[in-house]
Amino acid sequence: MTNAEGQPIPVIIDCDTGVDDALALLFAVRHPGLDVRAVTCVAGNTDVDGVVRNTLTVLELAGAPDIPVARGAGRPLIEPARSARHVHGEDGMGDIGLPAPTRAPADVDAVTLLRREILASPRPVTLIPTAPLTNIALLLRTHPEVTRNIERIVFMGGAVACGNATPVAEFNVWHDPEAAAIALTAGVPITMYGLDVFQRVVVPGADVRRLRASAEPGTRLAGDLLSHRPATPDVGADSEAGGIGDAGAVCSVVDPAGITTRLLPVEVSLAPGPTRGQTVVDRRPRPGESEIHDGLREQQLVDVALDVDVDRFVKLYLTTVEG
Ligand code: BDR
Ligand code: CA
Repeated sequence: MTNAEGQPIPVIIDCDTGVDDALALLFAVRHPGLDVRAVTCVAGNTDVDGVVRNTLTVLELAGAPDIPVARGAGRPLIEPARSARHVHGEDGMGDIGLPAPTRAPADVDAVTLLRREILASPRPVTLIPTAPLTNIALLLRTHPEVTRNIERIVFMGGAVACGNATPVAEFNVWHDPEAAAIALTAGVPITMYGLDVFQRVVVPGADVRRLRASAEPGTRLAGDLLSHRPATPDVGADSEAGGIGDAGAVCSVVDPAGITTRLLPVEVSLAPGPTRGQTVVDRRPRPGESEIHDGLREQQLVDVALDVDVDRFVKLYLTTVEG
């Protein structure tokens, strides 16, 4: 898969590596249809220095040690950082004993690297945030001129039906709701790869075992990481199955036909209390009482992923990572 001119799609991944962010990086650097121009790091699953370390190590094991990596925001715009170590382990990588990286990150911060790579790209860049949107919000507010060379933002975050951080809010948006609101209203085309599809793409246990037995370090790492991904109720008795998580968002850039999207109004709840961080997706077929009584409000339209072809993405993931 390439863009209309038959060339790889230039992408930048903004991540909080993170078990499934690592799965996303492994996929992205191994897919010939993607040109990964940079990877930027933000606090989320673990602290930002841990994210940088994990990201550098994963890229080395994946055989892509030259992609520039930059450290970004160490906390959300307003709130303190709240890690997800209970999901991703003490080191953010499932505590599977990864080696330390051999190189250091770029000597510029994430926002500077994002700006530089976006403006230097000969073709518009697709941004793929798989983490809280703090770096992206800071970029859009500091250097709004970058939007002229951004093709689209395809972000993992939000949920139509059900949250994970709270009953209604997904972790990445909940962690920094103000940043998500800024990204959603930047005027850039945006795809929301939310929990509704994120949780469904699961690699069967037999495939996970094969990856873990591989002699190739990147493939083996993918297997080890998948084996750390908690099985969802959907996989029933297959206790070794593992979800690809954030990697699904990258799959949807390579193969947009693998998801079904609808252009819908989406608003991030910034109110304190039980709805904070919710992505309120308006699926009503016609205006309701709020519009009748309070008038129409201008709302951001987002391509919301409502369905995913699970087999297609599992196959895409495996064939790409196994080479
Ligand atoms: C998101 O939160 C993180 O734990 C995962 O890496 C993913 O990006 C899911 O809510
Ligand atoms: Ca993530």
